[in-house]
Amino acid sequence: MPALEAQGKAIRTIEGISSGTSLHPVQEAMVEAGAIQCGFCTPAMVMQGVHLLECNSKPSKEEIKEAISGTICRCTGYTKIEKALCMAAEITEGI
Ligand code: FES
Repeated sequence: MPALEAQGKAIRTIEGISSGTSLHPVQEAMVEAGAIQCGFCTPAMVMQGVHLLECNSKPSKEEIKEAISGTICRCTGYTKIEKALCMAAEITEGI
């Protein structure tokens, strides 16, 4: 998005989702699922996953695919990321 559209808005970055030395459940699930990729797409996928789970605690696979569809990676694939977000949804459901 153009920077001017963010003027006056709250901005949350990947650094702002963990608490202290603890990872966010989405980050933990990404690590556990082996879904960590490069430093460009992984933070974006994590942030999209965090937002998805804040809005929808039980997303379907199609909703997960739609949520991360704005981050394009031609290096690997999306299977492990989708698995990680399913795992994170199960972890955060009880929180
Ligand atoms: S692994 Fe990150 S863009 Fe492909």
